[in-house]
Amino acid sequence: MSPAEQLKRQAAARAVDLVRSGMKLGLGTGSTAKHFVELLAERVKEGLEVVGVPTSEQTRALAETLGVPLATLDEQPVLDLTVDGADEIGPGLALVKGGGGALLREKIVATASAQMVVIADESKHVATLGTFPLPIEVVDFGVTSIRRSIEKAGKAAGCHGLLTLRRGPDGHVFVTDQGHLILDAAFGVIPDPGLLAARLAEVAGVVEHGLFIGLASRAILAGASGVTVLDR
Ligand code: 5RP
Repeated sequence: MSPAEQLKRQAAARAVDLVRSGMKLGLGTGSTAKHFVELLAERVKEGLEVVGVPTSEQTRALAETLGVPLATLDEQPVLDLTVDGADEIGPGLALVKGGGGALLREKIVATASAQMVVIADESKHVATLGTFPLPIEVVDFGVTSIRRSIEKAGKAAGCHGLLTLRRGPDGHVFVTDQGHLILDAAFGVIPDPGLLAARLAEVAGVVEHGLFIGLASRAILAGASGVTVLDR
């Protein structure tokens, strides 16, 4: 395992220690969340009784293969704990998420959880959000017009930058699990994440954006000198 993957696994291992039998869990998406699901599956094999609600088809497939009991969010609408990765973790544990394209289900699942714990290597911890392009999930209608509205909304929140329609590794337009598209907004700096979130929420055609504000209550960050826990 590469040193970067080892750090992700260390953060995931700390999060698994928070899981108790009987818990209903939100299962995040991405390479760090994958470590959590793998470690959780080991505990399940040892007798831990949990039920997981996956935030993507990718995570559903992994958890199913590893034997983690699953439910839909409609079957388990109230969750105890969601563990997920992030693309950036800023002040107040405000997050940028959606690098893996699962931001909509991730936000719905996190909102349904009593607690959201974000796990990452310490490189994700930043002083100001925005270096990672902000993923914005939009409907598959009038994308050019929606893009212009997002640019206007961004400017109203002091954010300027190029919006790129996401494509998959095969070059085709990336389509989310919910059948939407993603515009990645390279703002560089997001001076006021709360204001930008409010402006984006007003744009017709924006389904959801990757700013997670007030959702994560804890961040577990793994670095060369060990694991750090930040609580909000
Ligand atoms: C998926 C996400 C991921 O949590 C985020 O992209 C971090 O992924 P990774 O752990 O692979 O760096 O938001 O939509």
